[in-house]
Amino acid sequence: MSHKPFKAVIPAAGLGTRFLPATKAMPKEMLPVVDKPAIQYVVEEAVQSGIEDVLIIVGRNKNNIANHFDSVPELEEKLRAKGDHDKLAKVEYSSDLADVHMVRQGEPKGLGHAVLRARGHVGDHPFAVLLGDDLIDERDPLLTKMLEEYDQRGATVIALMEVDPEHIHMYGVAAVEPTDEDDVVKVTQLVEKPKKEDAPSNLAIIGRYVLGPDVFDILEHTEPGKGGEIQLTDALQELASGGGGGGGVYGVVFRGRRYDTGDRLDYIKAIVQLASDRDDLGPQLRPWLKDFAATI
Ligand code: G1P
Repeated sequence: MSHKPFKAVIPAAGLGTRFLPATKAMPKEMLPVVDKPAIQYVVEEAVQSGIEDVLIIVGRNKNNIANHFDSVPELEEKLRAKGDHDKLAKVEYSSDLADVHMVRQGEPKGLGHAVLRARGHVGDHPFAVLLGDDLIDERDPLLTKMLEEYDQRGATVIALMEVDPEHIHMYGVAAVEPTDEDDVVKVTQLVEKPKKEDAPSNLAIIGRYVLGPDVFDILEHTEPGKGGEIQLTDALQELASGGGGGGGVYGVVFRGRRYDTGDRLDYIKAIVQLASDRDDLGPQLRPWLKDFAATI
């Protein structure tokens, strides 16, 4: 399936302070999850859903990300000369993966501000926003479903997931009404990072959005919100309440496998889960994990 008109936007300009000192000179999006930088999983997900044009919004230390998606002729030459075709394929794969573009955010003024930086590149097209802290298992193709919903409903589509009420304050949260489809809801209200007692539901926005270009006009006048930052959630709340002239906002409720790499503990869990599921590492890792767990 190919959604040719969609572009993908991946904000990657955060400071990554939770991972200092690892992120002192390297963006957190380049931290390895098993043996691939986190951002490569996200680009692969966009490509898997049929998107070929990917714009990464970068901050400082952007060269690491740019280099990762570029070819490295010296390394490729060495691997070719050694006849190491497996490693050569891995190196070439990330450079050939997608048509990757970069734009700088300049100042870190929030997710909404980062998305607005995509306006020049995206132009008048619908686009997907993928946040790198949320990794979605390739066996549970969420974005493909969201692009289809966008096409069918002509409306903004966000990904929602039920989370433990104790964690709801870490997310944008949606009030919803049912639709004729089981895993699709109509979003009536969005609140960025509410207190547990103020949350309108336990449905959290996980970092996947399919947006129309009309969101840019809204972001132009969105005032700083939670944390003094320009919040994408606030712009989407305006769309959900009938602003922007679009067809409102719908949520796809995701029940598949999601790995959070946003903080250190979740990052470690994501690596263990993904590695134990892999054919090359799992058979040795799983029994070791059982033995190890018995000792603690
Ligand atoms: C961002 C969004 C939030 C969303 C979350 C998903 O927050 O602002 O609405 O629920 O991503 O991961 P962040 O985690 O960047 O603070």
